[in-house]
Amino acid sequence: MTFFGARVAILPLLAQLVLLPAVDPSTESAQVCVVGAGIGGASFAYFLKQYSCNSVDTPCFSDIHIFERRSNVGGRMATATIAGDTFEAGASIIHPKNLHAVRFASILGLRPKTESSEFRRDRNMSDLTTSWFGIWDGSQFLFTTLPPPPSSSSALYRKIHSFINALRIFWRYGLSLLRMNLFVNKMVESFLLYYKGFESRPIFETVEEMLKWSGLYNGTRRTLKEELQDVGLSPLLISELVTVMTRINYGQNVSISGLAGAVSLAGSNDGLWSVDGGNWQLAAGLINYSNVTLHLEEEVVSIGYCEKHYVLSSAKGNSFNCEITVIATPLDELNITFIPSISIPRRRLQHTFTTFVRGLLNPKYFGLSHGSEIPNLIGTLELPKIPFSSISVLKKYGEDDKVYKIFSRTPLPDGLLNEVFSSRKETIKIDWPAYPHFEAPEVFAPILLDGKHLYYINSFENAASTIETSAVAAENVARLVVSRVSSLHLNMPSKKLQTRNQDLLHHEL
Ligand SMILES: Cc1cc2nc3c(=O)[nH]c(=O)nc-3n(C[C@H](O)[C@H](O)[C@H](O)COP(=O)(O)OP(=O)(O)OC[C@H]3O[C@@H](n4cnc5c(N)ncnc54)[C@H](O)[C@@H]3O)c2cc1C
Ligand SMILES: *[C@@H]1O[C@H](CO)[C@@H](O)[C@H](O)[C@H]1NC(C)=O
Ligand SMILES: *[C@@H]1O[C@H](CO)[C@@H](O)[C@H](O)[C@H]1NC(C)=O
Ligand SMILES: *[C@@H]1O[C@H](CO)[C@@H](O)[C@H](O)[C@H]1NC(C)=O
Ligand SMILES: *[C@@H]1O[C@H](CO)[C@@H](O)[C@H](O)[C@H]1NC(C)=O
Ligand SMILES: *[C@@H]1O[C@H](CO)[C@@H](O)[C@H](O)[C@H]1NC(C)=O
Ligand SMILES: *[C@@H]1O[C@H](CO)[C@@H](O)[C@H](O)[C@H]1NC(C)=O
Repeated sequence: MTFFGARVAILPLLAQLVLLPAVDPSTESAQVCVVGAGIGGASFAYFLKQYSCNSVDTPCFSDIHIFERRSNVGGRMATATIAGDTFEAGASIIHPKNLHAVRFASILGLRPKTESSEFRRDRNMSDLTTSWFGIWDGSQFLFTTLPPPPSSSSALYRKIHSFINALRIFWRYGLSLLRMNLFVNKMVESFLLYYKGFESRPIFETVEEMLKWSGLYNGTRRTLKEELQDVGLSPLLISELVTVMTRINYGQNVSISGLAGAVSLAGSNDGLWSVDGGNWQLAAGLINYSNVTLHLEEEVVSIGYCEKHYVLSSAKGNSFNCEITVIATPLDELNITFIPSISIPRRRLQHTFTTFVRGLLNPKYFGLSHGSEIPNLIGTLELPKIPFSSISVLKKYGEDDKVYKIFSRTPLPDGLLNEVFSSRKETIKIDWPAYPHFEAPEVFAPILLDGKHLYYINSFENAASTIETSAVAAENVARLVVSRVSSLHLNMPSKKLQTRNQDLLHHEL
């Protein structure tokens, strides 16, 4: 795919004028420049190092620079501190079959955290049976599981408790639950194909190709609702439990694509984990492990192509000459100027407002007489009158002192918080440009933005947005870069990339 028009010839000149100010330009040169220090950028750097320099035929990339506009790495993996404790504020759960994340944690020596069952994020299906979950319709709880057993209770008592909860859920939703699990497991199995070895897994140049190869593409063509109706889920399960999950995980309803929906429902599987101390450490660890140059507080504002290299200019006025440029952030709400311009489909991001409150929920708001009757995880239906998507207890310091996390689609004004909470000691509000607004049939941006060496990792995000999907997309782009540069240096033996790093050949061996 190419997006150049007739302007191509004059624009490089223009780019030079615009991008290289005459006064005191700090211009560095780099082989590979990555925009964004989230998991996408960090894992890209890691894989590029792994895949390069390991045979005479593969190029070496010793000089990788990552640019991050913020003063810290991790992007949408971030923590918030409230009541002196830190909690995940963005990406919080990782699926046990997210094999890149599992391996990253292992090589980086990061420990998985398993929270106590009472407060574990209830997106683990069996969790619904072990902890206290309720579905709120704006005026009452349509369904609740039993309050947690006392911590002193025996293993047998806990088993019975969990069994009764399973029965309650089964009684309400019936066999449709099994069909839902089959639907999710099928998606998880297909996704596992992306961990196959090089011999049996192609390098993909487009997201469509990548999804078709694994059999996941169809899931992006139709809505979750349509897909679930086809496999025979009851309307009640779709409008209640499934809707609750998509609202918690993507802040959207069952009109998201089937694939994003399946990913969202997989967030109710067993064995979910997070990194002890914060998931952001995955990005921090990979960046350190890969020995790349990290530029913090360096916001890239323009990317121009001129004379076989890219010129990245930052808001601070610095510029960097890069042979290869990789975009590892969604471009949808950014103001990066591309010269020549690129063309990507218009996409809206779903904003998720994450509000942390230390205090106590108000039983009156929920039509209850006592706070002890309010479940630890409140999921909600798709009804305009409900101002939040979910409320969950993260930690309990005492009967009237808890930390809650609330997700909502719009900011929660203090007036409303004062109705929902009877006491509020501390409040933190975060506005996340969180994930794509999923719309079936999805249209994907290209991975190769200019047909040369400008790559876009987050074009994959329209399929589904998770830590792992970013890593999988980044791994493919790393392979694509190695393969395209290798074929280049066969055709053009004088290419800089080949000669510059002879000394570093075999350095990863
Ligand atoms: C509230 C919330 C809950 C979520 N829950 C989960 C979950 O439970 N499990 C899960 O797996 N995923 C979850 N996700 C999704 C997950 O966080 C993302 O899919 C993933 O972190 C995306 O990583 P990324 O590296 O692709 O993008 P990002 O993490 O967004 O990284 C992009 C980076 O680029 C930087 N940047 C942007 N523009 C520029 C510029 N011009 N110059 C320099 N730097 C720039 C940004 O500051 C950012 O650090 C959640 C997301 C949110 C918001
Ligand atoms: C996807 O849909 C097409 C057309 O409906 C069908 O031919 C194909 O078999 C489907 N693929 C998968 C993997 O379900
Ligand atoms: C679900 O979300 C879509 C897109 O935001 C919206 O058009 C639709 O009305 C919503 N469905 C319901 C049942 O509210
Ligand atoms: C839910 O996930 C946890 C890991 O976080 C796992 O240990 C547990 O077995 C799961 N729940 C149940 C009751 O199986
Ligand atoms: C950074 O990586 C080096 C090895 O490459 C390791 O020895 C060191 O402990 C790491 N530092 C951090 C903070 O992870
Ligand atoms: C890290 O990079 C620097 C500069 O590029 C290089 O001198 C050093 O040897 C590298 N270290 C490792 C462990 O790769
Ligand atoms: C991008 O520019 C537009 C118009 O100038 C502005 O409204 C918007 O806030 C900017 N977005 C960001 C993320 O800076």
